[in-house]
Amino acid sequence: MGVIFSGIQPSGVITLGNYLGALKQFVELQDEHKCYFCIVNQHAITVPQDPKALRENTRKLAALYLAVGLDPKKITLFIQSEVPAHAQLGWIMQCIVHIGELERMTQYKDKSNNQKEGVSGGLLTYPALMAADILLYSTDFVPVGEDQKQHLEITRDIAQRFNYRYGEIFKIPEIKIPKLGARVMSLQDPTKKMSKSDENENAFISMLDEPKVIEKKIKRAQTDSEASVHYDKENKPGISNLMSIYSACSGKSLEELEELYKGKGYGEFKKDLAQVVIQTLQPIQERYKSLINSTELDDILNEGAKKANQVANQMMARVEEAMGLSR
Ligand code: TYM
Repeated sequence: MGVIFSGIQPSGVITLGNYLGALKQFVELQDEHKCYFCIVNQHAITVPQDPKALRENTRKLAALYLAVGLDPKKITLFIQSEVPAHAQLGWIMQCIVHIGELERMTQYKDKSNNQKEGVSGGLLTYPALMAADILLYSTDFVPVGEDQKQHLEITRDIAQRFNYRYGEIFKIPEIKIPKLGARVMSLQDPTKKMSKSDENENAFISMLDEPKVIEKKIKRAQTDSEASVHYDKENKPGISNLMSIYSACSGKSLEELEELYKGKGYGEFKKDLAQVVIQTLQPIQERYKSLINSTELDDILNEGAKKANQVANQMMARVEEAMGLSR
């Protein structure tokens, strides 16, 4: 049994990419490991957020975490800002990481390029806070999608640098990427990852999209003119992405799918794929509806914050002691 930590930003709709890359594997891990799952609202404010929307999205994400099948009796679910040690250790990690390391992060480069107004300091130092999130819980494994690989590498580097300077305080965490669905691509531009911040709503499927909307978005998804259901990521990125989604949702292998759709066109494949995605999301959406306005959700988050604070504060005390920050 190991310790698992992962987080998702409440910065808009939660997509099928978030589900296949992250949430789905969380459920598979909860029986075997001690799991901490976090709604990382302090990461979300690295770009401007409307306060009302942030509060709503935080609650929605909490409900979704549970709706996918995470059991609050087995896991600890909490909101980052309710555990102050994250921001405290985040500051310390900012003092350990080097600016050059931060500037190399592709997420920083992408997001700062897209930012129309001023780029916040937090957007640059974000990986220091992420390292703090993970290191506070002596995490063994971090289940995430492929896009977080670089952030995990920097977390390991910061932890090692800290341990070298101040003694063996932090466990060096390992990344855990799912075999299927680690990088779900945009439905409109399959060379880009599916992202909740995409301006084109047809590019992503929200976990809360209605069946009709899912059908429409899949129907409009980019493919190619060859009309053969064959996996070739380089030359046929559109259909390959759709096949990966089909495979991750249904459990059927890519070979099985090629066999199943031999001689059939994209229309039939897309129609079936839409049903597979709807069947995956519908039970989650039903549980979501019963949770979103429940007081049970608040109880679970209160309990989660209590448990997380206990563990995180112990680690903070060790860190401050090691650094000479305590009296
Ligand atoms: P975020 O909020 O962008 O995404 C949450 C999780 O969803 C995965 N993901 C995807 N997986 C497959 N295909 C996609 N198109 C796709 N889009 C997103 C992400 O890899 C992630 O696992 N920095 C993190 C949040 C974070 C965190 C942490 C994660 C903060 N602290 C500590 C792990 C541990 C982020 O922005 O994820």
